[in-house]
Amino acid sequence: PAPGWSIAADVVVVGSGVAGLTAALRCAAAGRRTVIVTKARLDDGSTRWAQGGIAAALGDGDSPAQHLADTLVAGAGLCDETAVDTLVTEGPGAVRRLIALGARFDADPDGGLALTREGGHHRRRIAHAGGDATGAEISRALVAAVRAAGIETVENALALDLLKDAEGRAAGVTLHVMGEGRHDGVGAVRAPAMVLATGGMGQVFSATTNPPVSTGDGVALALRAGAEVSDLEFVQFHPTVLFLGPDAEGQQPLISEAVRGEGAHLVDADGIRFMLGTHELAELAPRDIVAKAIIRRMLEQGADHMYLDARHFGAPMWERRFPTILAACRSHGIDPVTEPIPVSPAAHHASGGVRTDLSGRTTVPGLYACGETACTGVHGANRLASNSLLEGLVFAERIAAAVLADDSERTAAVPPPVAEGPGLLPPEARAAIQRVMTGGAGVLRSDASLAAAAEALDGLATDADRKPAEPGADTWETANLHLVARVLVAAARLRAETRGCHWREDHPERDDARWGRHLVVTLRPAAE
Ligand code: SIN
Repeated sequence: PAPGWSIAADVVVVGSGVAGLTAALRCAAAGRRTVIVTKARLDDGSTRWAQGGIAAALGDGDSPAQHLADTLVAGAGLCDETAVDTLVTEGPGAVRRLIALGARFDADPDGGLALTREGGHHRRRIAHAGGDATGAEISRALVAAVRAAGIETVENALALDLLKDAEGRAAGVTLHVMGEGRHDGVGAVRAPAMVLATGGMGQVFSATTNPPVSTGDGVALALRAGAEVSDLEFVQFHPTVLFLGPDAEGQQPLISEAVRGEGAHLVDADGIRFMLGTHELAELAPRDIVAKAIIRRMLEQGADHMYLDARHFGAPMWERRFPTILAACRSHGIDPVTEPIPVSPAAHHASGGVRTDLSGRTTVPGLYACGETACTGVHGANRLASNSLLEGLVFAERIAAAVLADDSERTAAVPPPVAEGPGLLPPEARAAIQRVMTGGAGVLRSDASLAAAAEALDGLATDADRKPAEPGADTWETANLHLVARVLVAAARLRAETRGCHWREDHPERDDARWGRHLVVTLRPAAE
């Protein structure tokens, strides 16, 4: 579609979680005309749902070196150590700047930051807010700062495709805006710098902790723009998601790892604590190990869920420390004060994404990426709990510095934009994609399951080529889900080993000799 309207800016930021809002605030503070575009409202997205908190070496006796060591262990040999070092070294300062901006974190009795533990962390280093509403507080503070700074925002805007100038540099983005009034239909923001911060792709699976907006739009856009994408096979399944039945679909309530951090036990159908003896950290082992242990025990017992038992917290602690989770459980008829919580793993976080350097630069000049959309190298094969809000903060600050430094490279001429879409799939195809991905590329994968998934996804593509759906937000989103699903399945099929959160039944061992490396993907341009 040809854009019907356009806005000119110095920087366009797509996405409004911790990464996008931080990047936008920094660019605007440096005097750059910055426009934020976001698919729903400014405060919709994964950041708002984050419970446990934000990890940083802020506690007595902790250090960035210890945070680095824990991150590398979780990443199972595939972290970029320089990127992790940047994250953990710059992390404490970034959190302090967030506090200075207005985010209010929970305090301990001495007035210092209250810090909790989560899986894979050998120390208490997770700062939290409102007990278990950390993301909501961070989002509140950042949205307030964006509004106070008067940064222009376009809400209800689905990013379609990157615009490029004559030299192949980013020149802006085409958008499909739904009911925004001032800007409606297909339009564009033209800018020589574009920051992708669209979050994750959890909606590619049937059950996920991610909100409905997490449809892999940034990764799909970057692929279509020719950017490199890496590590898509590493999808983290959160071990403890409230189990609402085998057919539950869409966003499911998270039971934060911080609940285990404060001493909750995982028990099986017989009430046995099965993490004891599985790992030295028991329930606080890295997330992939806990998710696998849950699935194994479910298979052994022929059960579709396990239980998280935190009755011993008592009502006052539940109410003070985990009010959001308590309310979510009770709204589904489960009272964690008097009964164990039924839980099972669900898709939670994309460790891979658009490949960037340490300043968020992608392989397309002028296109930057940060937050869950990006693959900075800090997560490797499995993200350490509560490192993602931190990643969004730290690398967004670095992107802003890079955008300012890269200013001199801007070029003037921007040819008229052409937003060419992929074969559009009807909205009904979304549920088919989710079923295929959950069945074939979920927690437990094999060549056979992945081959079946690839075949089913190809079948949907053939249908779409034969009869493309009408353009519209739903069809664009479905096309994005379909594209990232196909790349994810292809990468997962190639990686014939088990590592981090990629679990291959047919290749149960880690194979450093063959697979101690990253899978990097670019889309071949369509034949002329
Ligand atoms: C949680 O609260 O368990 C989520 C933390 C995270 O995913 O980093």
